[in-house]
Amino acid sequence: DWTPDSFVETTIAALKEKLGDDKVVLGLSGGVDSSVAAVLLHHAIGKNLYCIFVDNGLLRKNEFESVLESYKHMGLNVKGVDAKQRFYDALSGLSDPEKKRKAIGRVFIEVFDDEAHQVQDVKWLGQGTIYPDVIESVSVKGPSATIKSHHNVGGLPDFMKLKVVEPLNTLFKDEVRRVGKALQIDDNILGRHPFPGPGLAIRILGEITPEKVAILQEADAIYINNLRSAGVYDKVWQAGAIYLPVQSVGVMGDERTYENVVCLRAVESLDGMTADWCHLPYDLLAKISNEIINNVKGINRVVYDISSKPPATIEWE
Ligand code: XMP
Repeated sequence: DWTPDSFVETTIAALKEKLGDDKVVLGLSGGVDSSVAAVLLHHAIGKNLYCIFVDNGLLRKNEFESVLESYKHMGLNVKGVDAKQRFYDALSGLSDPEKKRKAIGRVFIEVFDDEAHQVQDVKWLGQGTIYPDVIESVSVKGPSATIKSHHNVGGLPDFMKLKVVEPLNTLFKDEVRRVGKALQIDDNILGRHPFPGPGLAIRILGEITPEKVAILQEADAIYINNLRSAGVYDKVWQAGAIYLPVQSVGVMGDERTYENVVCLRAVESLDGMTADWCHLPYDLLAKISNEIINNVKGINRVVYDISSKPPATIEWE
């Protein structure tokens, strides 16, 4: 029978056997999957695991600093890399979702490769790929159904020549969380909602600019903090704000405004393959909407997404 403890035990033993004294590099994303994969590998090979945490400029507000701190606390051998400008440069002028994903994937690999080259004699790339990532990236291969290319699946460009080790690729999200608990990983990391690799770039519809990122980070932080203080965060599978490329008329005091719309999304799901929109309380939605409109310059309207997956997807891009 599968239990988190037996999984941890057999996986660590198998990793020791497989990796021996080899060195592994792993990109941490701040999410549950890469964090759990890192801790498993750390248990198996200790300092031979070299973690790299890249700031792509597309994370939530203050996320990079606070998560890097947590990783260090957990004893991981981790290096934080500020690559914000490289990502913004690569995204400049792009508005097609798949082009944005590809650009982000490409820059991530470049940055990661630069860092990996600094680790002498590295043999392996560790990844936090989970089972649904594997299925979705297989199922989108058909020409009629290019849904989304998940950039963190499918391994490597040839030039990296590393073997791939993916200790979680048979698990669903809830199982990954249970394994993380068995490994005593902090709740602040384990309880975190899933967050896409391309980050806020696919929650800003159209072209990305650092200014739009800053606006969305503020709105998103108000949203998420309110979900937390209302005790709702843990009941929601995934939530986030989306910056819409739509301007609408509003009034602020005596002034007419013409500003952008932010959409709030919150879903219930088991594994992200299907999802229902959450029936958040109206008074909570009202409070969040007021706070965003009153505090985030550039936003004068907030809407709530009431679409389920399928036929909608969780992300808007
Ligand atoms: P969708 O939008 O396809 O999302 O219903 C399902 C789950 O996958 C996440 N997602 C991504 N994760 N790279 C990722 O690492 C991506 O390009 C990507 N696109 C979607 C999404 O946040 C949700 O949890």
